[in-house]
This record gives sequence, C-alpha cells and structure tokens, in this order.
Amino acid sequence: LRLFSGNANVPLAKEIARYLGLDLGPMMRKRFADGEIYVQIQESIRGCDVYLIQPTCHPVNDNLMELFILIDACRRASARQITAVLPYYGYARADRKTAGRESITAKLVANQITMAGADRVLAMDLHSAQIQGYFDIPLDHIYGSPVIIDYLLAKNLPDVVVVSPDVGGVARARAFAKKLNDAPLAIIDKRRQAHNVAEVMNVIGDVAGKTAILVDDMIDTGGTITEGAKILRQQGARQVYACAIHAVFSPPAIERLSSGVFEEVIVTDTLPPVKQPFPQLKVLSVAN
Ligand code: R5P
Repeated sequence: LRLFSGNANVPLAKEIARYLGLDLGPMMRKRFADGEIYVQIQESIRGCDVYLIQPTCHPVNDNLMELFILIDACRRASARQITAVLPYYGYARADRKTAGRESITAKLVANQITMAGADRVLAMDLHSAQIQGYFDIPLDHIYGSPVIIDYLLAKNLPDVVVVSPDVGGVARARAFAKKLNDAPLAIIDKRRQAHNVAEVMNVIGDVAGKTAILVDDMIDTGGTITEGAKILRQQGARQVYACAIHAVFSPPAIERLSSGVFEEVIVTDTLPPVKQPFPQLKVLSVAN
C-alpha cells in the first residue's frame, strides 16, 4: 500500500499517514513557467495499491488537474490499483440541470477522474448522495459527521434541536439528529435568488428557547448558515451552533461567521487549515 498527497491539503494527508503508520510517498512536483503542472513519483509503485489524497478544493482547477496528472503518472508507473481519495469533491453543486443549457459538472468531473485512470474513489460527504452513481468505478462514500457528533455529545448541550438550513439538506440533518440522541428537527425554508446569495424565508419546527445546531455539508461564503442563524435567533433560539464538514470559507465567510451570531462554528479538516482562524472556530480532524 502506498500513500501520496497532492498539493491541496498536505496537513490532512500527513495526519492520515500518521494514523496508518505510513510515510507519504516521495514525489516531485513543480510548475513550468507557463503554469503547467509537473509531477513525478519518486519510487517504484509497480504492482502497488496506491492511494492519492487530494481534495479538489480552492484553487479547484489546479487541484483537479494535479489529481488527473497524479493518477496518470501512477497508471503509467504500473500501479496495480489506484484509489483517488477525495475528502472534498469540488464542482459537486452542479449535480443536475436547473436551467436549460447548463453543464452537470459533478458528472463531468467523475468522467475525467475515471478517464485519467482511477480504479476506485473514496469520497467524504459528497454534496449529494447521487454523485456516487456518476461513477462507473467503485466508490466508497464515507461521512465526517461522527467526529462532530462525538464532540457535541461530549458537550451535553441542553434542549437541542437540529436544523437543516435548507430543504435539500433535510435527509442529512435528520440522520445527524438521530445520532444526536434522537434530537428534534427543524427546517429553514430558503429561497435562493442567485448563486452564493441566500435568502431565508421561514422556520418549520420549534426552536424557541432551544440550542439550535445548524447542519450543512459545506460552508462556502457563509451566507446560508449565517442567514439561517439570524432567523433562528429571531425565532427565540437560545444558542446557535454551526456544523459543516467542508470549510470552503470563500470571502466573506470569516467576517460572517465571526460576527457573533454563532456560539461555535464546528468544521473538519477536509480542506486546508483556515488562514484566519477566529475564536468561535473549532476544527475537528477526520484523518482517522
Ligand atoms: C447548498 O446546497 C449547500 O449545501 C450549502 O448550503 C451552500 O453551498 C453553502 O454556501 P454558502 O456558504 O455560500 O451560502
């Protein structure tokens, strides 16, 4: 078994290697003057079971391209089996056409990973479960929520209600609530006017006087979860926690998340460390 890390999230790859008692495999990575990426695996991997760790996060196009090149290099080096380990799967939100003449990038990326030569995929918290079916190679879909749930259970919070920030996240929030001592569920009915602009309309469920735990797969600009928290406060929630697996944190996420509306913002390390940590931020590792 050999483990290699792309450039996207080396700290997570090191943690995974430490947990497995392995070293990350040696490789050379450089850029040509025109920006093209060069990768060379620097040991024999002939006949090996190779795992390539590369969340396809910001800068997503570079990280994706590096993943394709890594897979191709391993294929040409006669690896027996290549598993693309994708702690975060970028381009996942366009998983269907919502208007005419759009691309379904989640499927396009699945095709490209397969065409590059991956035999298997190990993905964590895909934006939507149906992305599993976009691959014709085996895909293991694993979840980061257990580390967040253990953390919350240890806090022993009173009167918990788990809240989905939108209708699309209800199944995820319901599963989360079940593991959180069968906590009740509330749903925010959100209408989105444009990409990355969230508008909150209504709360379905009782949140007054409760500890509200907002659960999402990712926080990107922070708009969805912050607007959600505001309406929960308006409806009388005593404390609001934000939980998400993927801390994408595109601007102005940090400003929004640190504005004081959250008791705590709990995320995992599927993406690289946050450059400007703020007091409410708690990062849990999914390396194990
Ligand atoms: C939407 O379907 C996702 O689950 C997230 O709610 C969304 O991508 C978060 O984006 P932002 O933080 O920019 O509102």
